[in-house]
Amino acid sequence: MLEIVVLGSAAGGGFPQWNCNAAACQNARSGKALARTQSSIAVSGDGDIWFLFNASPDLRQQINNTPQLYPNHGLRSSPIAGVILTNGDVDHVAGLLTLRESTPLALYASGRVQAALAANSIFNVLNRDFVERREFALGESFEPLTRTGSRSGLTVEPFAVPGKVALYLEDPNAGTNFGSQEEDTVGLRIAATESGSYFYYIPGCAAMTSELADRLRGAQLVLFDGTLWHDKEMIDAGIGVKTGQRMGHMSMSGADGSIAAFKDLGIERKVYIHINNSNPTLLEDRPERREVEATGWEISFDGMEISL
Ligand code: MLT
Ligand code: MN
Repeated sequence: MLEIVVLGSAAGGGFPQWNCNAAACQNARSGKALARTQSSIAVSGDGDIWFLFNASPDLRQQINNTPQLYPNHGLRSSPIAGVILTNGDVDHVAGLLTLRESTPLALYASGRVQAALAANSIFNVLNRDFVERREFALGESFEPLTRTGSRSGLTVEPFAVPGKVALYLEDPNAGTNFGSQEEDTVGLRIAATESGSYFYYIPGCAAMTSELADRLRGAQLVLFDGTLWHDKEMIDAGIGVKTGQRMGHMSMSGADGSIAAFKDLGIERKVYIHINNSNPTLLEDRPERREVEATGWEISFDGMEISL
C-alpha cells in the first residue's frame, strides 16, 4: 500500500502569491480560481507512519487541512515521522521551522542540502535531541526510519536530475550553473517495499536527459515539475525577469518541454506539481489547460489523494 497526499501543488510563492496582482492571482483571492499552497507531498506505506516530502512555508496550514496528519495519541504526538528533501529551496525547507516543537523526527537530505541547513543557524531550532539529520547518497536506496528506528515500509531511491542550486546559495562567479552540483536537485523513486508499488516525485527538473527518460519509462505514476507552461511566461506577463531555464525548471510546452519529453515513455499516470502562479494551466477555462489534459497529464491540487 502506498498512500500519497498532495499537500501543496503550487510552486514557490503559492497561488495567489502575496505580492502578485495579476488577474490569475486576483481570481485565486476571490475564489474564482482554486487557490494552492506551496510544493509538498505526504506519503505513507501503512497509513500510520507518514513522511513529508519537502516542507513548505505553508506546512502548518497543510497539516490542518489533512486529517491523516493530525495527532492521534497522547497529549503531544504526530503521525509525521520525518521529512525527506529534494533540494534546499525556500519553498521546500522553510516549513521545517514549523516542526520545531520537540516531536521526534528524522530529516533526510543529500549531503549538499544538509550542509546548507547546517550553515543556516535558524534551523538549530530543530533540537537535535528530537530531530535527527540523516544524509542520503545518490543512487543508494534506503528505508526511511522513524527517529527511534521503526520501519516505514517505504523504499526511497534518490537520483540526480538537471537543476540548480537554491537561489540563496547561487555563486554569481561560478558561470552559467551558479555553482550547482549533482546533489543540489534530486528526484526520488518512492516505493512500498512489500507490494512493490512505486512512483517518482520530481518537483524540480531543468531538462529531460536520456538517462532520466530510461529511468522513468513505463512507470506507474510520476509527479513532475509543472512550474511553467512556457519558458518566458513570467517575462511576457511582466511579472518577472527570469526564464524557467534560469530558475532550473523545464516548461510544459514546446519542443524541449515535458509534454513532448514524456510523450513516448508509456507512463500510466502523469501529474504536474510545483505549478507557478503564472502558469495558465492553473485556470480551468484556459485553452492551455485543455491542451495539457488532452495529452494525458493531470494538474494536481491541494488535497489530491492517490493510492497505489
Ligand atoms: C524554484 O523552484 O525555482 C525556487 O523555489 C524559487 C525560489 O526559491 O523562490
Ligand atoms: Mn520551488
